[in-house]
Order: sequence, then C-alpha cells, then structure tokens
Amino acid sequence: MAGSDRASYATGFSDLDDEVGPIPLVVRGEFPAWLQGTLLRNGPAKFDIGSTTVNHWFDGLAMLHRFEFGGGNVTYTNRFLRSEAFTESVAEGHLALGGFATDPCRTLFQRVASVFSPHYTDNGNVNIDVFGGATVALTETTLPVRFDPQTLATMGQAPISADVGGQLSIAHPHHDKARGCRFSYVVQFGPHSHYRLFAIPDDGSPERVIAEIPVDKPAYMHSFAMTERYLILTEFPLVVDPLKLLLALSPFIRNYEWQPERGLRFRVFDKDSGELIASRAAKAAFAFHHINAFEDGDNLQIDASVYDDPTIIDQVYLAPLRAGEPIAAIGRPIRFTLSLDDDAPVTSTVIVDEMLELPRMDYGRCAGRPYRYIWGAGQSPGGVFLDSIVRVDVAKGETSRWFAEGCFPGEPVFVSRPGAEQEGEGVLLSVVLDAISGTSFLLLLDARTLSEIARAQCPHKIPFGLHGNFYPAT
Ligand code: CO
Repeated sequence: MAGSDRASYATGFSDLDDEVGPIPLVVRGEFPAWLQGTLLRNGPAKFDIGSTTVNHWFDGLAMLHRFEFGGGNVTYTNRFLRSEAFTESVAEGHLALGGFATDPCRTLFQRVASVFSPHYTDNGNVNIDVFGGATVALTETTLPVRFDPQTLATMGQAPISADVGGQLSIAHPHHDKARGCRFSYVVQFGPHSHYRLFAIPDDGSPERVIAEIPVDKPAYMHSFAMTERYLILTEFPLVVDPLKLLLALSPFIRNYEWQPERGLRFRVFDKDSGELIASRAAKAAFAFHHINAFEDGDNLQIDASVYDDPTIIDQVYLAPLRAGEPIAAIGRPIRFTLSLDDDAPVTSTVIVDEMLELPRMDYGRCAGRPYRYIWGAGQSPGGVFLDSIVRVDVAKGETSRWFAEGCFPGEPVFVSRPGAEQEGEGVLLSVVLDAISGTSFLLLLDARTLSEIARAQCPHKIPFGLHGNFYPAT
C-alpha cells in the first residue's frame, strides 16, 4: 500500500484552504429521521504558512467542520478558527506562536516568554466542547477559543480563569451529568509546579479548583480518567523539567524526556472533597487517550489506548506523514486494575490485541461506569495508517471492523438513538478520507453491526482531524 500513490493516506496531510457552506451534501443511503443535530469537528488543516511548513501534525492551524442533520439531509460548513495564532501566523507568514513541536522564528529573548507569558498559542485544533454554555475549540493551553456553533464564526478567547491559573491544560475534559459540570486540569509551571484539577459548571458560574498537588517534573498527559466518584491522573513517564520550558531552547514537546524507570503513576482524587485518596505505580507505558474507567468493588478499572513508549509522537511529524510512511504501532486497548484497598502495583491486561486510537464509547450512558463497547479508528494488520473503524466488545474480547479499500477514517463519534434502551444502540459518525478520489465523506454506520447506513459526500478532502462531538438539536 505504501508504494501505491493512489491510495496513500498522505493526501490527508496536505492543506485545505477552501471554506465553504453551508451547502447541502449529496447523500447515498438514508440518514435516519431521528438523527437531528450537529456534528462539530476540529483538526489541523493548514500546515504550509507563507514559505514555511510546520514540523508536526499537531501544529497545523485549526479548522472547524460542521455537519448538520435533519429530515434525512446533511449540510456542511467549514471555517478556519480565527484564533490569534491563526491571524498572526497568516500575517507573519510562519507559525507565530510556539506549537507542539514547532517553534516560531524568534529570538532567544522572545522564546523565553513562549510558555510562561500569556501569549502562548490558542490554536484550538484538538477538540470541541461546551464550557458553561459557550462552544469552544480546545488545544492544550489554558486558552480555549469560543465560536458560534451555527456559523462557525470565531468569537475570541475564553481563557481558563485566573483563579484556576496554569499554562497547560487538556482538550479532553470530562462531563459529569450528575454534578452538572465538566472536570479538567491544568499544569501550573514555576519554581514549584502543580497539577490542579478544576470544575467548569454547566450553568456558567465560575470555575472552581477541586484539588492541587505539587509535582517536580510534570508529565505529558493528553487526557485523564473519571469514574462516578473519582478523577484519576495517569502520569506517564514522559516528563519535563519546568526550567527547560522556561528557557524554551526547543519546541514544547522536545523538552519532555522519556524516563521509563519512573514507571506509571496513578493519582486518584475524590471529586467532591478533592482529597488525593490513592497513588499507585505501574510499569512504564504511554497513552494519549483514556477510554473509560469505573469503580469495581475496591478496585478501579481504567481503560486506555496504550503504547509501550512515546515514539508515536515522532511518527506523526509532518514529513513522514506527507511521505505516506507506515505508522509502526498504534495504541492497543489495555485495562489497568488499581486496588484502592492496598498499595499493590497496578496490573494491566490486554482487552483485545487490536490497534485502536481515537477511542469513543456510549459516553452519555456509560461515562465513569461499567461499559461494554469501544469504537475507534483502527489500523488493520499490514496497514500503514488508521484504515478502519473497529468495534470492541469488552465483555467478549471480540472485535469487528469496517474497512474499505483506499479509505482512511477518523474518530467514530457515537450518537445514541433517542429512547435507546441499551448501551450502543445508535450510529457512528466518522469523516473518512477516500484517497482514491481525493475527497472525504461523512460515513454513518450502525454502531452495533458496523454496517454502512449512509454516506454524505464532501466537496473536498478534509485533512485528518482529531476530535469532535455531536450536539442534538434542541
Ligand atoms: Co485527543
């Protein structure tokens, strides 16, 4: 496959400059009448800026994509997120604010400010969420950018409050329906660095700090885990000396060092009291994405898409992706079992031996609770990139797969059918690159069988995105 230009995934890493819509899409099959609402997605879409090119997939300038469903029709709109990072980069002809693995061309003096000044990046290219009623695009800084979910017009930064502080945050907050809030965390860098967990109330009232612990070398954590009562930070041994970030001699992620001898450290916090109730160790591993977690008697079960080490970060630099080089290893679904009863090391078991990333589940029903089904973008045996949609039956340890020659799907977003009585009753929405035609389409699958129900053809290729969410019509 790598030798075949026609079906190379590489076209998913070329720029998309066109902004269109709202336009109706040509539909094949039938979008069910009950599917009413909007899929909002996000991802890097502009990598070539002026005469320069960013180094890494995660440094492309953010583009928003909106698919609206109703009456069996699908309309599509896409717009760049007009963040400060976007505006300044386009004006200056290069990435203007320090990114994940790309530095702006700045003098040493200017670099010193890159992480510690308020002028860090707001290029929200990772995920979309709703904070206190405002729709926001997120990256891993404390600068969410608000936008209009109807028009995709950018409305300006909506920074995490000064009371919470911090410089780094995450693009994967958790929603707690019972408590009526999102949970997230920040890293406060300084002479004494801290992890700080906080809540974002759904009603728009001020963010509040839940817990804070000191940390000597903060870990790179892209997500965290939540059960009904607990929040769990998984400290991967990819850690940074805060002084290195202060000096900013290297792009952000290059300051982090893989120190497997540290092992994994799980930190369990009580959601209500904020108390750190357990710290547990495990063998070194790396992950971007937790899948789900739940309480199981005196144990916590914590599932994630896990790698042996963080070499995946090196594999998704733009140059190898644009050359269509094979990705050697994608994360596999692993279950960590953590005892709250004693200090025993955390054990891990393979849920299924299957490469799976961008994992989703029936979040509305199962977030923080026992669950059975995972959906994700998979890489089939012998594949070179995410080339399939995989469903995992956790109870049976079985998988099924959607695959089409020359097609490279993104994250499958689960949408529960209204009135669904069981977990997993609904559909999956995934933006798929058809590398043969050089365009993308929105794929609708039955979430249980992975059989195709319908697809809607986009007017262009959508560069590989990261995350998004479905918002039912109100
Ligand atoms: Co992510």
